Amino acid sequence: MTQTILSVVLPVAGLGTRFLPATKAVPKEMLPVLDKPLIQLAVEEAYKAGIKQVVLVTSASKRAIEDHFDVNFELEATLEARNKQAMLDAVRTTLPNGMTLAVVRQPKALGLGHAVLCAAPVVGNQPFAVMLPDDFIDDTQGSCLADMVALYNNEQSYSLAVEEVPREKTDKYGVVSLDGNGRITAMVEKPKPEVAPSTLAVVGRYVLPAETFAALREVKEGAGGEIQLTDGIASLLASHAFKPHRFKGVRFDCGSKLGYLQANVALGLRDKEIGQSFQAWLKTL
Ligand code: UTP
Repeated sequence: MTQTILSVVLPVAGLGTRFLPATKAVPKEMLPVLDKPLIQLAVEEAYKAGIKQVVLVTSASKRAIEDHFDVNFELEATLEARNKQAMLDAVRTTLPNGMTLAVVRQPKALGLGHAVLCAAPVVGNQPFAVMLPDDFIDDTQGSCLADMVALYNNEQSYSLAVEEVPREKTDKYGVVSLDGNGRITAMVEKPKPEVAPSTLAVVGRYVLPAETFAALREVKEGAGGEIQLTDGIASLLASHAFKPHRFKGVRFDCGSKLGYLQANVALGLRDKEIGQSFQAWLKTL
């Protein structure tokens, strides 16, 4: 019988060099979009998908992420004494009810594929999801991952979230090719525009079979000595049905300064408290 997707792997062991010096001591995933860190936005999306277990793959400099999902006795006691109920609720529900958090370390940044492989002992022999918290998918109606889990439950299909990109930008993404039934047949990492098999780029949401771990163990180091997740997935495409998921909502690449600022503007404009004054101020620029 088909199992549903219960675990999500959040690889957060990268160095976050594009945001230095901000990310010297603060993990990139703790940068806020308005008032929530990127990592929390990812966990909330996973919660809407019915995910029960969050597996963080971290490194030594990322302890603040674990603390964010833990109890902070001193802060809670102070807020309680001051009768700040809304703030107290916000601090207590960083990890939604019913979700558990496991943390594994990636001892060295050997690539995204290697980071995912580090989660194997915790995920076990189960299909699972992977989310890259830098890719914030703003879907006010639902959750990208929830739609991908539904696709798995309804059609037993694994999936990769994809987005149309301009042809001149294919060399910044993993790009997929599809067969006549809409199934993914190949994946190429960062192809030059003239050889890209399509303009459908993979973004940071994946629903993957348990066999991904075995596939990643076979992957040889690619460019820069890194083990790529793309290579592991590519070796499974012949034996497992993978579909592209064209998600609803807007994706912000919060690993880049432009995308990060755009995400803040989008959420700032919608904010009940400051939205109107923010918009008025933007118009004066
Ligand atoms: P990025 O390519 O965005 O790298 O990784 P990065 O280190 O986070 O950021 P920059 O490019 O230096 O600014 C994509 C995702 O894979 C994780 C990252 O934490 C991020 O979520 N990752 C990458 C790992 O967990 N381990 C690795 O060895 C590499």
